[in-house]
Amino acid sequence: MILEEKYILSNGIEIPKLGLGTWFINDKDAGQAVKDSAKIGYRHIDTAQAYENEKGVGNGIRACGVKRTDMFVTTKLAAEVKSYKEAVASIDGSLKRLGLDYIDMMIIHSPKPWAKFHEDDHYFDGNREAWKALEEAYKGGKLRAIGLSNFEKADIDNILEICTVKPMVNQILAHISNTPKDLIRYCQEKGILVEAYSPFAHGVLMKNQEVIEAAKKYDVSVPQLSIRYCLQLGLLPLPKTANPAHMKNNADVNFEISEEDMQSLKNMEHIKDYGEASMFPVYGGKSS
Ligand SMILES: NC(=O)c1ccc[n+]([C@@H]2O[C@H](COP(=O)([O-])OP(=O)(O)OC[C@H]3O[C@@H](n4cnc5c(N)ncnc54)[C@H](OP(=O)(O)O)[C@@H]3O)[C@@H](O)[C@H]2O)c1
Repeated sequence: MILEEKYILSNGIEIPKLGLGTWFINDKDAGQAVKDSAKIGYRHIDTAQAYENEKGVGNGIRACGVKRTDMFVTTKLAAEVKSYKEAVASIDGSLKRLGLDYIDMMIIHSPKPWAKFHEDDHYFDGNREAWKALEEAYKGGKLRAIGLSNFEKADIDNILEICTVKPMVNQILAHISNTPKDLIRYCQEKGILVEAYSPFAHGVLMKNQEVIEAAKKYDVSVPQLSIRYCLQLGLLPLPKTANPAHMKNNADVNFEISEEDMQSLKNMEHIKDYGEASMFPVYGGKSS
């Protein structure tokens, strides 16, 4: 059962292979979503300062009935935080809002502030400052693992050149039809686990006829096919839902996609229209 399987991060820490995404789950609903997911067997929750639901997620972690050491919680340092001083305060802010003694993993949400996501400046200095703060919190026992999100090769190299602790993950947009092969290979070669966010393209894959047909062939839902696809590439998928029936469906992925079908799903024409979500920088838009 996938909920019991784990990847091992480069520092030896175990991370459950399937995580629950919480973007767009309100703070007041997040606790219940965490509790429902834990009851089903989820042990890995993905939140972020930007989702404004860390408080609810933390309440859920503390109230879900699962031992704290058996849960894995990731949060993200806001994309706009690009100085050492701000990063130190920001990490402590997350600990406080979550109400936890330690956070399992904290990652830099984006190398560029959202409003500048499509501009040329890589904020190399600012990311090094943020990384220094994460390293210190890691060494001080506040964080069990540290990592990156939305980092391209140049952004990763910028950290690798100066770090004393290597990033353990890079969380990126990866789903059927959009699989950044070179970046994935680069991360994996460097021992960086790749987490796949928006594994259903924020829901858009469910409307795609080609993907619907591929799922039918295996007698599974599009979400199940999408999760299996990520897992077979060695990625860690983070499907979002607050619906317990969907949580169960997403964890029921005990089947194998053939090599031939993996290739055609990988090479499928890139779905670039993310519908209403297209305004978000991660899908090419400009909203902050
Ligand atoms: N690092 C970053 O920059 C970044 C960016 C985007 C996302 N993320 C992370 O990745 C997570 C997932 O990405 P996402 O929120 O963009 O979207 P997603 O997981 O690709 O898709 C979510 C959509 O799929 C639906 N869904 C989920 N399971 C389903 C099922 N079994 N059957 C039918 N519909 C189902 C959800 O509806 P219901 O809620 O109704 O189930 C929701 O509309 C986020 O929550 C967040 O944790 C990170």
